[in-house]
Amino acid sequence: MSVTFVLNDKSTTLNAPDDKPLLWALREDANLVGTKYGCGIAVCGACTVHVDGVPTRSCVTPCSAIAGKSVTTIEAIGSKSPGGFNAVQKAWIEHQVPQCGYCQSGFIMAATALLEKTPEPTDDEINAAITNLCRCGTYPAMRAAIKKAAQLKKAGA
Ligand code: FES
Ligand code: FES
Repeated sequence: MSVTFVLNDKSTTLNAPDDKPLLWALREDANLVGTKYGCGIAVCGACTVHVDGVPTRSCVTPCSAIAGKSVTTIEAIGSKSPGGFNAVQKAWIEHQVPQCGYCQSGFIMAATALLEKTPEPTDDEINAAITNLCRCGTYPAMRAAIKKAAQLKKAGA
């Protein structure tokens, strides 16, 4: 079976079974390995991508569910921003957020989506919206970086 959808702004057809998780189609069939496998059961958020702008756990999203939709991955999230990094990525660098880095692409996808809906989130709003897990405990740095990203975004970054 095949699935046709928009992947990082390009119409794409992947030969993948309907029930193949989008995560594995991205990694194995589209060669986009920035999206990570953590738990496989929609808990950790390492596999977060945007589907029609909505942060989505790709490990539990079958390919059949994305036909005709628009998927954005970490590889392209900053592609329309000056320098190729969006405000969240710039703030992440400024605050040196990552430790091991494994969870970070999922967090950046979730944080980017949060700022689209809530331009100046409080700590409580960040905690409620972003349920991803980081076993290195980078949560305080991430919250600070999200607030910095909100300022950068407001300034047009
Ligand atoms: S790998 Fe998808 S939520 Fe953990
Ligand atoms: S930076 Fe290591 S798991 Fe989050």
